[in-house]
Amino acid sequence: MLLRFRAPTDPRPSEITPESVYLDRRRLMAGAGALALAGLAPGGASAAKREDYAPLADVAASPLSTDEDANSFEEITTYNNFYEFGTQKEDPARYAGQLKTSPWEIEVGGECAKPGTLGAAELITSHQLEERIYRLRCVEAWSMVIPWVGIPLATVLKRFEPTGNAKYVAFETLHDPTQMPGQRRSVLDWPYREGLRMDEAMHPLTILVVGLYGRDLPNQNGAPVRLIVPWKYGFKSIKSIVRITFTEAQPPTSWNMSAPWEYGFYANVNPNVDHPRWSQARERRIGEWGRRETLMFNGYADQVASLYAGMDLTKQY
Ligand code: MTE
Repeated sequence: MLLRFRAPTDPRPSEITPESVYLDRRRLMAGAGALALAGLAPGGASAAKREDYAPLADVAASPLSTDEDANSFEEITTYNNFYEFGTQKEDPARYAGQLKTSPWEIEVGGECAKPGTLGAAELITSHQLEERIYRLRCVEAWSMVIPWVGIPLATVLKRFEPTGNAKYVAFETLHDPTQMPGQRRSVLDWPYREGLRMDEAMHPLTILVVGLYGRDLPNQNGAPVRLIVPWKYGFKSIKSIVRITFTEAQPPTSWNMSAPWEYGFYANVNPNVDHPRWSQARERRIGEWGRRETLMFNGYADQVASLYAGMDLTKQY
């Protein structure tokens, strides 16, 4: 997403990380992982093996999952956007291991009757966990299919009794440059911020994620708690959340503040609205050759199109 800093001679976004480079990088990373295990690579890359993460108990399958084939654990944990750990796709796997994710508390406040804190551990033990296999479509025109483990956001938010003034929900990531080296550079105005309209936040497809592939969530994917809103571009799905605030006014959001002409508040996946510098009509599924057509609302139109009835989606992108 750092594309706004692209020099005119840099590759087009559509050429970012071609498959050959990506596969080479993966091979390099596998090598780096071996070095790290041997204690040779300072801050070494995560070897990202599924068995390294603890299994989550009592995870129910959700009828809201897609039946498309999921990407591999390795793909999902080594090709990431998490600018708090660097702007390269392999940086989060390499550096996010140093983030301390337990204990972890999320402060919930603003326009609600019962403000309070939400412990990540308590969130996992006090709710029915669900596996939700969702497509994730990044604004950079690539996509993956990811078996998340999560809890409907609505279930969690209702506990805090939002008032009638709560029209939006704002989210913030941890701000701690000692643990998140990417925050020592002003790539974005930290902390990372995102927001949803109340009806989007309460929609049954919107989840707080605490796991991946039936196990604890790897740090590079936003541990211990992140948002997933599957019909929106991936940048809405904020990682490592420490604050949730009910607001009356539309909250400021990181990418919108950074480049409002490129990244709107709504950020719904929409193949008919191009990014000012590249087309959004097609996408590359990580691990596949060629490109596939991008679907309206990332394929979730039947469930969510009604939320936007009467809105001009070319203006409110
Ligand atoms: N959340 C934070 N805090 N920082 C980030 O840089 N990147 C976003 C989103 N959430 C980001 C973030 C973007 S652009 C995408 S595409 C998704 O995370 C990627 O999620 P994944 O790495 O788990 O696939």
